[in-house]
Amino acid sequence: MSIKVVPTAAVLGAEIAGVDLSRPLDDATFAAIERAYDEYGVIFFRGQSITPAQHVAFTRRFGEIEFNIFGERWSVPGNPEIVVLSNITEGGRPTGVRRAGENWHSDMIYSPRPPRATMLHAIEVPELHGLTLGDTAFANAAAAYEALPDSMKRCIEGLKGVFDFTGRKRGEAPDPATVQRYPPVEHPIVRTHSRTGVRCLYINRDDCTKIVGLPHDEAEALIVALSDHVIKPEFLYRHRWRRGDIVMWDNCTVQHKAIIDYDLPQRRLMHRLTIAGTVPK
Ligand code: SIN
Repeated sequence: MSIKVVPTAAVLGAEIAGVDLSRPLDDATFAAIERAYDEYGVIFFRGQSITPAQHVAFTRRFGEIEFNIFGERWSVPGNPEIVVLSNITEGGRPTGVRRAGENWHSDMIYSPRPPRATMLHAIEVPELHGLTLGDTAFANAAAAYEALPDSMKRCIEGLKGVFDFTGRKRGEAPDPATVQRYPPVEHPIVRTHSRTGVRCLYINRDDCTKIVGLPHDEAEALIVALSDHVIKPEFLYRHRWRRGDIVMWDNCTVQHKAIIDYDLPQRRLMHRLTIAGTVPK
């Protein structure tokens, strides 16, 4: 295969052209894909017609597949590791996770060892009179860290955030089973990429509830300022989906958000896989 890496005009993201993921990939081609993924944070392949089994096989080249909590309820029959994201209903019943990731986040940041990568395959993409809907927005948290003034970099050096799945920050009553499954975890708010050594901001408004050792007001000011800094327009890439796209993102250096600007009868169906990661350092 003759692979071509075509960067987007944004500060992250590249299209990988010339690759047919339904066919076996030789090691050199795979290495070029993985290099592009490390460099651009988000990579995408257009027009891929692959089976769930081929999707799983390609994902496994990047590492161990992680089972996601949503997959316990919404997975592809015969492929329990593939989570179905969809707004489609059958007989009045949902067929997948209806609203996933509509706020800025990094996948499973509230877990001790969050996933290295997430991959979505677009099976159906919503559109209204020819206008494509249901984009995904991505933010480059490494460029955002780099752009911080030195005084802020010094101030946050070595700080750890507390990340909490249970929504305590938003004043919701925590569900005891979820608290037991996902007790709060601490991660550095400046994270170093385990493969490239690149440093990035690792913080978002929804999941970071405290900063270890800081009083509430001081912590809250930093959480809000840094989380909003990551998503400034200059750090963003917005992916407009086409049917058959495969998009993969790095959960260390990239944050993302699903744009929910569609509803039935506009249908969106994505297959999602996640790849195990390392403990953030
Ligand atoms: C996600 O956050 O994993 C979902 C993103 C999307 O559906 O666009």
